[in-house]
Amino acid sequence: MDPEVHLPPVPLRRRTETLEDFNTLPSHVFPASARVNADGELELGGIPVSGLVSRYGTPVFVMDEGDFRSRCRRMAAAFGGGGHVHYASKAFLSVTVARWVAEEGLALDVASQGELEVALAADFPPDRITVHGNNKSVPFLELAVRAGVELIVIDSAEEIVRLSRVAGELGVTQDVLVRVKPGVHVDTHEFIATSHEDQKFGFSLASGSAGRAALTVVDTPGMRLRGLHCHVGSQVFDADGFGLAADRLLGLWARLLDEMGEGTVEAAALDILDLGGGYGIAYTPDQEELDVETVAADLLRRVRQAAAERGLDAPVLNVEPGRAIAGPSMVTLYTVGTVKDVHTSDDTVRRYISVDGGMSDNIRPALYQAEYDCRLANRRASGVPVPTRVVGSHCESGDILVNDALMPDDIADGDILAVPATGAYCYMMSSHYNMMPRPPVVVVGGGSSRVMIRRETVADILSLENTGDHA
Ligand code: LLP
Repeated sequence: MDPEVHLPPVPLRRRTETLEDFNTLPSHVFPASARVNADGELELGGIPVSGLVSRYGTPVFVMDEGDFRSRCRRMAAAFGGGGHVHYASKAFLSVTVARWVAEEGLALDVASQGELEVALAADFPPDRITVHGNNKSVPFLELAVRAGVELIVIDSAEEIVRLSRVAGELGVTQDVLVRVKPGVHVDTHEFIATSHEDQKFGFSLASGSAGRAALTVVDTPGMRLRGLHCHVGSQVFDADGFGLAADRLLGLWARLLDEMGEGTVEAAALDILDLGGGYGIAYTPDQEELDVETVAADLLRRVRQAAAERGLDAPVLNVEPGRAIAGPSMVTLYTVGTVKDVHTSDDTVRRYISVDGGMSDNIRPALYQAEYDCRLANRRASGVPVPTRVVGSHCESGDILVNDALMPDDIADGDILAVPATGAYCYMMSSHYNMMPRPPVVVVGGGSSRVMIRRETVADILSLENTGDHA
């Protein structure tokens, strides 16, 4: 039995934070079109932020369409074609984005009925959709099968029964993958590591349940086993974890082929190895995103080699990046409100800069202790760097956007701050906590801008409520 492997943490380099560093845009953390103009103001998609803010207000998510699309293209080229890259829509999804993904020739991964419905509303080709979820309902499965999705990833024994019934009723044979936890514990926040034993996704490789599930699928009417899936975790910097997982899955693959009879091998048509997503991106200047081309080349080689060593035909390699496509394409703009100097217990002073958004538009620092960069966006800073915490306007002391930074002390009420790399898992995990409506998402590129998702209003929130006297 393969032991659970814990990969060591990847050390971070220290940040340097002088005034000059602060005024120099860390371009690898910002979208491709971001630059500082001659007046010292940040431009996104060729538009000064002051223009965006006067038109759309703050807080506002600004998405660089060119950046998003070029990341789709890079992924597709690296992994041998868009059909092998299933953009993980949980990172960021809208009808517009689903259309971009379709136009760039990528496939799509959905993880809920809602995501599937948005994809279908965008006319995303169903035969390029993979369906995930650890607790897919019968209506969700029905919608997926009826729509004609490419693959459903089986996550539990109950789901085999449910899907068989649904497929039987619709008279369809559905292609499926079986999700496996290969026992590779990557170094990332506990909540986004997904391949170790003690978590809810997939079937255990170590206990033999993954193998048993795959054999059950082969013997169950209404479905055809096309391959195996795993996702070791998210925001991963040590690409070894993906290779190790691939190797373990191919070990199971070989055992499965041994155990299946000739006829069943045909019925199974095993040919897909899906390694999920997880490629780390740079949130802060000291980080560097995983180089997609290098990771893809290594993985493709490793999969071919591992298959050859076991006398197998190399499977088709599919991947599901979300963050690495959407994350770097977006910047959140906030307006500075109150600025407060607070004496901390060790007698140093920390400056608290409050902005007009917070944990409702970015829950990641509170949930995963995620770190973000933050720049003064409407002008060049001239003050002395002081220990600063950038916080939101919510009624909670954990409402922190940037926990510990050195920022110039001339930042004041009315300034605009830019927090980059907010394209993945920020809008999608947003809430209207404290009845603060969600910000809009604005698309920029080539000197023009447009609203992708309008700002939520209190009237939108009120419209959900039944204010009548009777239930
Ligand atoms: N495939 C599967 C089966 C997944 O579960 C995920 C992410 C992905 C692909 C995409 O992973 P990515 O390439 O984006 O790392 N809310 C967390 C991340 C949760 C990820 C869940 N699954 C965060 O804000 O960091």
